[in-house]
Amino acid sequence: MGINNLIIESPDFYLSDLQISILGLGYVGLPLAFQLDKKNDINPKTGKEFFSRIIGFDIDKKRIEELKTCFDRTNEFKNEEFKNLKGLIFTCDSDLLERSDVFIVSVPTPIDDSKNPDLRFLEEASILVGKSINYLSKNKFNPNIKKPIIIFESTVYPGATEEVCVPLIEEFSNLEFNKDFYCGYSPERINPGDPKRKIKDIVKVTSGSCKEAANIVDKIYSTIIDAGTFMASSIKVAEAAKVIENTQRDINIALINELAVICNKLGIDTNDVLKAAKTKWNFIDFKPGLVGGHCIGVDPYYLTFKSKKLGYTPEVVLSGRKINDGMTDYIVERFILNLLKNKINIIDSNILILGVSFKENCPDFRNSLVIKIIKKLQKYNLKLSIVDPLVDPKEIFTKYSFKVFNNINENQKFSGIIVAVAHDQFKAFSFDDWKHIMDESCIIFDIKGFLPSRLKALRL
Ligand SMILES: NC(=O)c1ccc[n+]([C@@H]2O[C@H](COP(=O)([O-])OP(=O)(O)OC[C@H]3O[C@@H](n4cnc5c(N)ncnc54)[C@H](O)[C@@H]3O)[C@@H](O)[C@H]2O)c1
Repeated sequence: MGINNLIIESPDFYLSDLQISILGLGYVGLPLAFQLDKKNDINPKTGKEFFSRIIGFDIDKKRIEELKTCFDRTNEFKNEEFKNLKGLIFTCDSDLLERSDVFIVSVPTPIDDSKNPDLRFLEEASILVGKSINYLSKNKFNPNIKKPIIIFESTVYPGATEEVCVPLIEEFSNLEFNKDFYCGYSPERINPGDPKRKIKDIVKVTSGSCKEAANIVDKIYSTIIDAGTFMASSIKVAEAAKVIENTQRDINIALINELAVICNKLGIDTNDVLKAAKTKWNFIDFKPGLVGGHCIGVDPYYLTFKSKKLGYTPEVVLSGRKINDGMTDYIVERFILNLLKNKINIIDSNILILGVSFKENCPDFRNSLVIKIIKKLQKYNLKLSIVDPLVDPKEIFTKYSFKVFNNINENQKFSGIIVAVAHDQFKAFSFDDWKHIMDESCIIFDIKGFLPSRLKALRL
């Protein structure tokens, strides 16, 4: 029985009844594919297992080759976890998508140089899905796959799924929306590098293009997400919920970053202030820091784009962005000023940058603000040693033309250190380990605020 019959006649379908294709196997798509594979159950009615019906598709040939050899460059899955896969297929071959009941799209949604949404990947994926279901319009012989459903997980502005993706699917499939195919939207909320909150542990917001579609989407996710699902009232509501989650976080961090600048002028420690303030029951616990990556620093621009289209320029959202983006200048200026105050000849000094990725315990360096810091420091002609145990040095070199080492040269002493990312490897350093790499007048800037206070590091 195919999804159409199953959903309409009975809500009790099983993952093993469906062919599910995931388009885009990055930080979002791969964990989802693994989780679907894990829950790929046996249909108790038929006793049948269809372990080859989850298809992981990506246009990046290198990524697919790596996954086929059980290597995940995002560090989310170890070699042995691949060995436990039941039947997930990794492929670049779009022909394999054709018989799918369910398509889940998890491709990137970055911003362009003008900070407007860059929907290229999403549009390409929608075209591909349209082409993959096109055969249904010509050849309606397959009773099992009458009404495919396309679920988008990529973060977008409210309205994008139905205004941008659906028309492309209709155009390339020759099928009619909500008559011949359904859509859904279920934003991803994973936190790469976080061992405590995996995909199954985070409540999933679901939505569909009609009641039936919403039920299908919700059923699929409730089968694989232990924490449960929340069915939003429409696709647009689910899209808006995702962007506001990250926009709220961006603004809260911006407020604390602004506080950090003020505390510095006051000559008091931001951390001390926050410790005191959070003894009030309704004070929200945020820390100052760099907001990089492709979610929190990007999603507010998606919301802004749509809002401007509707004639309203958001002020709070954009001022939060401005403050958070400006933190790199602030950090560099304070660092240089303190080196000079300590009579350090900055031109000849060895400066160590610890961490390049946009967040701790994650190899992802896209939109990392540490890169902005490095570029600014390079303008001062400092002798920089850049260390990150997780990022791929080759990829960084290709993109930004600077060298990154995976380990610190422990025989070297540094006059300045910026601890930019709280990777576990750096957190494991003892007071003596830090002292060992610092020369007598070393200035150390602890952006993440985790170093022993005895080191008297600069902090936000
Ligand atoms: N990374 C996160 O922490 C996170 C969390 C929540 C939501 N999101 C959102 O999820 C989406 C995906 O993010 P990500 O971090 O997984 O991105 P990613 O760059 O890690 O992975 C995306 C993958 O999609 C592939 N791809 C691009 N175009 C394709 C196409 N037409 N067909 C098939 N594959 C294609 C790329 O090759 C890449 O492997 C984005 O919208 C992002 O904002 C990300």
